[in-house]
Amino acid sequence: MSLLIIGSERADDFYKMTRGLVPGRDVRLWPDVGDASDIRYALAWHPPAGELAKFPNLRLIVSVGAGVDHLFRDPDLPDVAIVRYVDPDLTTRMVQYVVLMTLFHVRRMTEHLEQQRDRRWEYRPEPMPGEVRVGIMGIGVLGQACAQALKGLGYQVRGWSRSPKSMPDVTCFAGDEGLGPFIAGTDVLVVLLPLTPDTRHIVDGDLLAKLSTSGRHHRLPGPVLINAGRGGLQVETDILDALEDGTLYAASLDVFETEPLPAESPLWQHPRIVITPHNAAESATESISKYFVRQIDRLEAGQPLENVVDPSVGY
Ligand SMILES: NC(=O)c1ccc[n+]([C@@H]2O[C@H](COP(=O)([O-])OP(=O)(O)OC[C@H]3O[C@@H](n4cnc5c(N)ncnc54)[C@H](OP(=O)(O)O)[C@@H]3O)[C@@H](O)[C@H]2O)c1
Repeated sequence: MSLLIIGSERADDFYKMTRGLVPGRDVRLWPDVGDASDIRYALAWHPPAGELAKFPNLRLIVSVGAGVDHLFRDPDLPDVAIVRYVDPDLTTRMVQYVVLMTLFHVRRMTEHLEQQRDRRWEYRPEPMPGEVRVGIMGIGVLGQACAQALKGLGYQVRGWSRSPKSMPDVTCFAGDEGLGPFIAGTDVLVVLLPLTPDTRHIVDGDLLAKLSTSGRHHRLPGPVLINAGRGGLQVETDILDALEDGTLYAASLDVFETEPLPAESPLWQHPRIVITPHNAAESATESISKYFVRQIDRLEAGQPLENVVDPSVGY
């Protein structure tokens, strides 16, 4: 009934922390796995493809992150329960990132910083908060928390999901038929979708061209994109083109098709892009290790697991 830590730059920390939490139990750190048949539970982040299939008695995989695309890219992923990480600390950090970036662009901060560098004192008109419509693609655990915070700042909020939703003071859209009307009434697009076969490259030139431009009438220079979901959701050349031709005013990108973002990527240089290194919402080692142990305790006590992933939809 051994525990395994596999993948992640922080694997050593998870290993030490987990051992401290369950001193009586056998915890192993990949690739030093010993007898593979002992392994029952794995805490995983980007495990090398094919590795998890080597444990014949594996019963549970806990993902270090909220997203599980790093598991589903493995064609040999074993058919066992998968739990993704959901945690108030992570959620709060994501809310802070989304609020920070929304305010940053709506308050035209890239322009103010440029002016400051040039010692230029120039007035820039800004919209009233109630005029700005923030559209959240993916109104799940993180999207809903962001919606609450953005409403509190006075913005109009709308959300898009796979299944229909109802939230007070949030205009909800769902499915393929809801995407058009959702996008057409969005000034600031916040992307918090999981990366699945259905969502890959969903943020492309066609979608960006359908964002609302009516914000310009109330002093928002143009639509804004904020992607903190996954890099595979976006087409990066289309984002650059959209910024160049004015389809987009500005963007904040935390995630990229290739991470780390290669030094030669033109995204680095664009004056209207804010780049962060996939740290919109980090999670503390201790919380993740405790969460891992809690899921094992629940499984062994015959209680339901938390935040179980549905492999048929990929999140
Ligand atoms: N950058 C970072 O640091 C960071 C940190 C944490 C998480 N993330 C990313 O954030 C993502 C969201 O996390 P979460 O905890 O909020 O996930 P979640 O609770 O599973 O929510 C996902 C949302 O996306 C919607 N969705 C999924 N597929 C869709 C589709 N094909 N069409 C329309 N809507 C679709 C879901 O619709 P339903 O409500 O109908 O299911 C749900 O509303 C994660 O998957 C991860 O990739 C990034």
